[in-house]
Amino acid sequence: MTAPSPLNLGVLVSGAGTNLQAILDAIDAGSLNAQVKVVISNRPGVPALERARKAGVAAVTISHKDFVDRTAFDHALVRTLHKADVNWVALAGFMRVLTPEFLGAYPGRIINIHPSLLPAFPGMDAQKQAFDYGVKLTGCTVHFVDHGVDSGRIIAQRAVPVEDGDDLAALAARIHTAEHALLVEVLREIAAGRVLPFAG
Ligand code: GRF
Repeated sequence: MTAPSPLNLGVLVSGAGTNLQAILDAIDAGSLNAQVKVVISNRPGVPALERARKAGVAAVTISHKDFVDRTAFDHALVRTLHKADVNWVALAGFMRVLTPEFLGAYPGRIINIHPSLLPAFPGMDAQKQAFDYGVKLTGCTVHFVDHGVDSGRIIAQRAVPVEDGDDLAALAARIHTAEHALLVEVLREIAAGRVLPFAG
């Protein structure tokens, strides 16, 4: 059997970057056989960029506002990922839907972390959607990215209970902690060749 190619990750972010931090920490601890080759944010000045720099990882801002349309923006993303020799892409709180051009540049090799048990509560504010609905169990999902919103093939999920007396912040924090573990676990599986690029 041929060994899987090394996991050269590109991580796309838009905000706090705690999931990015979980990846960087796992690599640093030697528990994830991967390299983060570049971190790209579509929003300038977000904490995720600082987290990347602190870890010695190239941190790039590519603002969607600087492009005429989504295709031009995605071309710029792909150019940067290719230049950095990225072979898998993780969306970690990246708040833009990808175009077919981007999906075609990394076929079956783009994953996303979402803070609900999909297919329940896709889209924005998933934790609040679940909390307001009154579910007793929610969680997080890592899935392959397709052209829809949080609609790609599910790779792994982690259930998180809603405890009596939870407010939204407490629930969201519990989900966030579960996300960090789940995302790293899935990346380990990819790095080991046990999760393969999604063939459709
Ligand atoms: C996470 O809840 C993730 O599931 C969602 O955006 C949030 C990003 O959090 N897609 P962080 O920036 O990784 O802290």
